[in-house]
Amino acid sequence: MIGIFDSGIGGLTVVRAVMDALPGYDIVYFGDTARTPYGNKSEKTVIEYALQDTEFLLKQEAKVIVVACNTVSSIATEALRQRFDVPVYEVVSPAVDEALKVSPGFIIGVIGTRATVESRVYEKKIKEKNPNARVFAAACPLLVPLVEEGWLKKPETRMIVKKYLHPLKTRRIDTLILGCTHYPLLKGIIAHKIGKRVKVIDSSTAVADRVRTLLKATPNLDQSLSKNGNSEFFVSDLTPQFLKTAQSVLRQRIHLQQVNL
Ligand code: DGL
Repeated sequence: MIGIFDSGIGGLTVVRAVMDALPGYDIVYFGDTARTPYGNKSEKTVIEYALQDTEFLLKQEAKVIVVACNTVSSIATEALRQRFDVPVYEVVSPAVDEALKVSPGFIIGVIGTRATVESRVYEKKIKEKNPNARVFAAACPLLVPLVEEGWLKKPETRMIVKKYLHPLKTRRIDTLILGCTHYPLLKGIIAHKIGKRVKVIDSSTAVADRVRTLLKATPNLDQSLSKNGNSEFFVSDLTPQFLKTAQSVLRQRIHLQQVNL
């Protein structure tokens, strides 16, 4: 199975993208809905949670781990790779590569949670590959609760997105990375508010493409993954609203199982 986890249900945007990129591959998902959000927690806590989430997925027979959370990817990837002996894919590097591929003038904006923006991981990775690139980041802490609440098309959400994007617009960015797995659900509004000129990079499709490419290059690993079109979804807390949002992200009915880590 491909194991995918997030702090909550935003990571289902990555599940959707992996299902589209690798149809039929079995997926086991864990969303830590009882402890979400991670984006305003300390590094130590995010690492501790990420290790527990991964241990749970490995117990469910996951052979590959996809970190469907920008906050965990930014802070805990090294800790996960040191602790576990399975491939760990994170969402930051594929989004950075994609941005550098399409950005015409390398003036790149990044939006994410406070933890992701404060880690400056996007800036570091972009500059490692292109020292001349200019990177401007903005934390958008209100967007995750708006998505979890299902306020995807409300005028208030549009206003808040506009306000968050204003400083990036004045910098005349040409590319914008959605550095949070919840934001693809607001992609339409974000693309509209930032303007047609700006290329918008969705980390969920970028990581799904990366996983597909790497599985092609490692047939042994690919063969070890089951492909019966079965997916299992676990959360650490279950409410009717979580189920509703999860099903609308995946555009299908699912069974969400509550587990305690
Ligand atoms: N999934 C998280 C991310 O991509 C956002 C939610 C949270 O703060 O936990 O950064």
